[in-house]
Amino acid sequence: MARHPRYIAHQVSVPDYSGALAAIVNGVVNNPMAVYEMGPSAATLEFAVVNWMLEKVGFVPQPLPGDAAGRHGGGVLTHGGSLANLTSLLAARARVAPDAWESGTPHDLAVLVPRGSHYSVARAVSILGLGSRAIYPLEVDRHGVVDPAALAPALARLHDDGRRCMAVVANACATATGLHDPLRPIGEFCAEHELWFHADACHGATALLSDAERHHLDGIELADSIVWDAHKMMQVPVLCAAVLFRDGRDFGRAFQQQASYLAMEQTRDTYTTMPRAVECTKASLGLKVFLTVAWRGERGLGDYVAGRYAAARRFAERIAQRPGFSVPYAPQSNILCFRYGDDDALMEAIREHLLRSRRFHITSAELGGRRHLRLTVMNARTDEVTIDALLDALEETGAALRAGA
Ligand SMILES: Cc1ncc(COP(=O)(O)O)c(C=O)c1O
Repeated sequence: MARHPRYIAHQVSVPDYSGALAAIVNGVVNNPMAVYEMGPSAATLEFAVVNWMLEKVGFVPQPLPGDAAGRHGGGVLTHGGSLANLTSLLAARARVAPDAWESGTPHDLAVLVPRGSHYSVARAVSILGLGSRAIYPLEVDRHGVVDPAALAPALARLHDDGRRCMAVVANACATATGLHDPLRPIGEFCAEHELWFHADACHGATALLSDAERHHLDGIELADSIVWDAHKMMQVPVLCAAVLFRDGRDFGRAFQQQASYLAMEQTRDTYTTMPRAVECTKASLGLKVFLTVAWRGERGLGDYVAGRYAAARRFAERIAQRPGFSVPYAPQSNILCFRYGDDDALMEAIREHLLRSRRFHITSAELGGRRHLRLTVMNARTDEVTIDALLDALEETGAALRAGA
């Protein structure tokens, strides 16, 4: 449970009470949205929240429905980052293959995806009908970070196979390691080759609110689509994610559904999410973000991110100093990996033992072919004392398991 300082496991937020209050309000009022007339307040809040997020990533906010406007971005809140990733790739497909909605997905589409991307990306590729063989893995360095020099050969390989590139995906940051792919060079490569650039910033995007940590996302404004989970580092309770598009026209082409019983005319004059989202009925997701940002402030949320990222860096140094422990890289977020000893199976056994004993909840991940212990430092009460206690517990459990206890 994420409120416990010894829960250093998954990317589950310790929600701010303002967002929790919004969840209670939503539960009591139960006024969802799809078309504007169903949930006018929910739609209005979502419009404001999406525009705020568009501004934060460097895109042009949407005009009010009915207002004349030039080029602007677009976006929608979704029930989670996996749906947001699916929506992004759906829009990417509509750009490369505008007939796909009616005629089906052409067999020559492919995607460049870094090894280590969240599985929801691969799943979206299959859901869209490309088939998993359409995923061309992007080469990464020993820590799983995309090497921009690998882009050109990967694209050439894809072309040599007679394929068209539907999208290039980058992680900001990667789920397992918390490391960021270099968005700017990837974005520049995509612009040069007219490729759709999708930035999966589910975990990392909230760092845009921190002066100290924003640099990890340098170049994010070059993306065609970005996903941002508010229920991770924005301290919003589950579920709430956003998919954001640099060009609202791309977004407008993602879905081409008609539903006669839902007055489609409404979509022209009001903010209606139904033609823009996988979901029909949607919770009033915007209220959670709205109240959290209103109560904590952008600076408060940015300070939270900076605090957790700095804690992860300090913890990594502390862990590296202990004999028997090693840390493969300097953390770039609040996710860090490390090893204890050199025996992968024993390390996993120690972790499972700790979990069963309910003393700590940590996870593990594979990196460079080797198992690592993995921490996600979400809780502000997880401190050096907690980490020292964790390292002691790992040593004790390891000794007991080695002794056959
Ligand atoms: C980089 C990344 N993308 C996508 C997801 C999926 O998001 P959700 O769990 O909100 O569906 C995650 C969650 O772990 C993630 O870390």
